Amino acid sequence: MSFSLTDANAATGKAIYDANCAACHEAGIMGAPKTGNKPAWAPRIAQGMNVLVDKSIKGYQGKKGMMPAKGGNPKLTNADVKASVEYMVGLSK
Ligand code: HEC
Repeated sequence: MSFSLTDANAATGKAIYDANCAACHEAGIMGAPKTGNKPAWAPRIAQGMNVLVDKSIKGYQGKKGMMPAKGGNPKLTNADVKASVEYMVGLSK
């Protein structure tokens, strides 16, 4: 399975990330792994994209904190969440 992005997907992922995910992940607050922090992301990325996307859609309580379902925005589609995860992971590996 390939995770390469078309430019359109990357642009959408960035827009969704900026609006819904950056509040926690940009600065790494509330226990969120900071975007671009490769050591923090490596073990998470190792779970595989499907797991990361699934947990981002459903939300979960981890050791560091609480990741809200869809970043707290139920209006996002699963595809929206996937695009934003791909964007975040792309900057973090
Ligand atoms: C209210 C703060 C907050 C927002 C907003 C938020 N997150 Fe998170 N996120 C967290 C926290 C806290 C964790 C770490 C939880 C843990 O592992 O203990 C996390 C973890 C993650 C992980 C890693 C999951 C794993 O298995 O290691 C991904 C991927 C993720 N978030 C994606 C997103 C996406 C995509 C968005 C926007 C749609 C988003 N997050 C918005 C707080 C947030």
